[in-house]
Amino acid sequence: MRCFRPWSRRVSDEVDKTAVVVESQRQQVSRDVRKDEEAAAQQGSKCLLSRIMRPDDANIVGNVHGGHILKMIEEAGCIISTRHCNTQNGDRSLALLVRVEKTEFLSPVFIGEVAHVTAEITYTSKHSMEVQVKVMAENILTGTKKLANKAALWYVPCSLQNVDKITEVPPIKYASAEEEEEGRKRYEGQKMERLETKLRIEAVASPSPNPEKHTVGFSQSSLIHLVGPSDCTIHDYVNGGEYKCFTVG
Ligand SMILES: CC(C)(COP(=O)(O)OP(=O)(O)OC[C@H]1O[C@@H](n2cnc3c(N)ncnc32)[C@H](O)[C@@H]1OP(=O)(O)O)[C@@H](O)C(=O)NCCC(=O)NCCS
Repeated sequence: MRCFRPWSRRVSDEVDKTAVVVESQRQQVSRDVRKDEEAAAQQGSKCLLSRIMRPDDANIVGNVHGGHILKMIEEAGCIISTRHCNTQNGDRSLALLVRVEKTEFLSPVFIGEVAHVTAEITYTSKHSMEVQVKVMAENILTGTKKLANKAALWYVPCSLQNVDKITEVPPIKYASAEEEEEGRKRYEGQKMERLETKLRIEAVASPSPNPEKHTVGFSQSSLIHLVGPSDCTIHDYVNGGEYKCFTVG
């Protein structure tokens, strides 16, 4: 059986480009990756996760599943926010994903490319953290790099000794008063939106058990999944990224 490798065609297309363009892109990539790594190491408020994309991460035409990208985004967010909320003495906590503010798939990621996921804490309230994430896809054969995804997530720390206890988040330092003010506006905005959503959900009627053809109810589908240990955090909560795999993948 012939192995279907659409990504190899893309690689050969790229190789046809002029050497000058490729070389300058390669230098830009190493500069960008080095800058992210240095910033991550120095500040501690950033996290960089790099993974090569494999055939079992992708669909039959070689595009990496959206759910796989979202899982990496959640993993990076969980690392940075859990690390941050344990920087002070006191209860050890695990940051739980509570909200995906937005996520945009800007360009596809293919098998053989390296996904660089950079997560950064951009706002802290008393009990929550906003994490912004960027995913760059790098073709390590040609040096080309593209922005594949941008996302914003919110995490809440829960005590490891008592999962019902929400712990306090150490405040972060902002580069400027404007940056802090912008973050506060995003925090207030999502709080307001949550309140409105809660009221809307309460007003929605439950779906009919036998929906008619060509109605929204008829188009609904469901997926049954038995939750296993590999789906869970050390708290026994299902990983936020797993939910996203179910819904997108
Ligand atoms: C995290 C959890 C315990 C919070 O419980 P809760 O009753 O909503 O908590 P509270 O209303 O007391 O709010 C606590 C903090 O969380 C924030 N918060 C709660 N839900 C939030 C949401 N959906 N989005 C953003 N922030 C949220 C609140 O703003 C508050 O922070 P603040 O005091 O700084 O404003 C609960 O929402 C939960 O268990 N969620 C499921 C988490 C999960 O399973 N994630 C996937 C696995 S990682």
